[in-house]
Amino acid sequence: MKFFLDTANFEEIHEANSLGILDGITTNPTLIAKEGKPFKETIIAICNEVNGPVSCEVIATDCAGMLKQGRDYATWHKNIVVKLPTTREGVKACKTLTGEGTKTNLTLCFTPNQALIVAKAGATYVSPFIGRLDDISEDGMQVIKDIVQIYKNYGYTTQVLAASLRHPMHVVKAALAGAHVGTLPAKVLDQMFKHPLTDKGLETFLSDWKKANTAGS
Ligand code: E4P
Repeated sequence: MKFFLDTANFEEIHEANSLGILDGITTNPTLIAKEGKPFKETIIAICNEVNGPVSCEVIATDCAGMLKQGRDYATWHKNIVVKLPTTREGVKACKTLTGEGTKTNLTLCFTPNQALIVAKAGATYVSPFIGRLDDISEDGMQVIKDIVQIYKNYGYTTQVLAASLRHPMHVVKAALAGAHVGTLPAKVLDQMFKHPLTDKGLETFLSDWKKANTAGS
């Protein structure tokens, strides 16, 4: 499973990247706005930091506008993936950008049917939002499972990017379902490290080591 970090915060990106296990970044307008820095400058700085795909979302809602923005973004850096909404206009833009060799991430996907459509349009990634489905009492993980199965049935190459992950078990279940990518908030990545027996075990090993090395001295 590839790990993307779901943030535009440079400190979080730098910290996660230093682990050596970071494969890419996803951003959205909300995450960009949170940082309060110029959009293009932020995206280029992220692309220079992370050696992997960086999703950058269009704001236009019509195909022509999405193409204009997407083509511009694609000139900014080789790591750019143009993030498009899963709408009729987004799908048209996806088809065209894919034909031009630009990578795409179709976002705000909530159903297997939407995922089927975007795979047919040649999307590089589809982003089903697990947490937001759970928030309205639907089963986000089932949507991931269904999409993975449908893509397998037909050999679609679109990668399932599990998004809107809210806690470590979302990551485990998305990985078990066969999602190609999980995009993790920094907090979730941090939680994934933690186990009290790891901390306790390490504490014991270190104190026993100290005892062994001071014995008889
Ligand atoms: C990533 O591509 C999505 O924009 C993000 O995971 C959405 O997460 P949220 O539902 O927690 O805002």
